[in-house]
Amino acid sequence: MKLILEQAEAVNDLIRVMTFRSATDSALPGYTAGAHLQFDIASVGQRSYSLIDWPTASDRYEIAVQKEVAGEGGSQTMHALSVGDAIEATEPQNNFPLIDGDGPVLLVAGGIGITPLISMATHLQKQDRPFQLHYTAREVSRMGFAEILKQNFNDAVSLYVDDKNPLQLTRLMSSQAPDTLVYLCGPRGMIDAARSAALEAGISEEAIHIELFTKAQAHEGDTDFEVEISSTGQVLNVAADQSIIEALEAAGLDVLYDCQRGDCGICQCDVITGIPDHRDVVLSEAERASGSVMQICVSRAKSARLVLDI
Ligand code: FES
Repeated sequence: MKLILEQAEAVNDLIRVMTFRSATDSALPGYTAGAHLQFDIASVGQRSYSLIDWPTASDRYEIAVQKEVAGEGGSQTMHALSVGDAIEATEPQNNFPLIDGDGPVLLVAGGIGITPLISMATHLQKQDRPFQLHYTAREVSRMGFAEILKQNFNDAVSLYVDDKNPLQLTRLMSSQAPDTLVYLCGPRGMIDAARSAALEAGISEEAIHIELFTKAQAHEGDTDFEVEISSTGQVLNVAADQSIIEALEAAGLDVLYDCQRGDCGICQCDVITGIPDHRDVVLSEAERASGSVMQICVSRAKSARLVLDI
């Protein structure tokens, strides 16, 4: 789709809310809460941004982009777009859908991870389904949307700032009803802590749904390893600063993937031999322990070679 930036507004120093219409002025394809668009950003590649749906429904696409000064330039390009500029994007895709039902839902957002959870809160409010939205940020200045969240969702919203009133995840998770569905979106540290607290509180792994808002970070000591493609026997080197997907693409192979953060599950691959070094958030503990599947966008190898079912 070709989209035109119709409106842009700075929420704070880092976050820019952007509203797009179709370049042909036709109706935009609909989407469900948790969906995102993948934008084609010149010189950087594809970048995903969650769609924001407020109770005051709009027929436009709204996203929020947080400027990552040390990033690869995608967010800076999005911040530099002017009203009237065109940009290509995919139709909405949803790897983080809300599960239908009438049980309670707990939404926990860290930083810019609030965006898909705003759409979920809107959907749940319309359904009259019980939900709580807990939104935490490192500093007040990084917390966009605080006021508008309160206006739209009233007491369902709780706000936290790390150095003033930090979110107590253990207390929060242990106060949930056993049938609560949990949706987490934010940076890796918050996700890991929230997930552990939920599991410790007795919430089942299947009830916890995750979307990361940060790219996978290299770990100190990451080294090269080999990947063997089982269907052809071809062996590729995966450099220390390269993902398996990047190595496969560099060798001319077509690979299916989306988030490249380890949360959507689309790049999942069967492992025939070798020991994966799991760095995703989508596999269950049992799947991880089995060593028979892995997410090739972020996970690496503990053995010198992995043989993958490709
Ligand atoms: S592309 Fe989403 S988990 Fe790998």
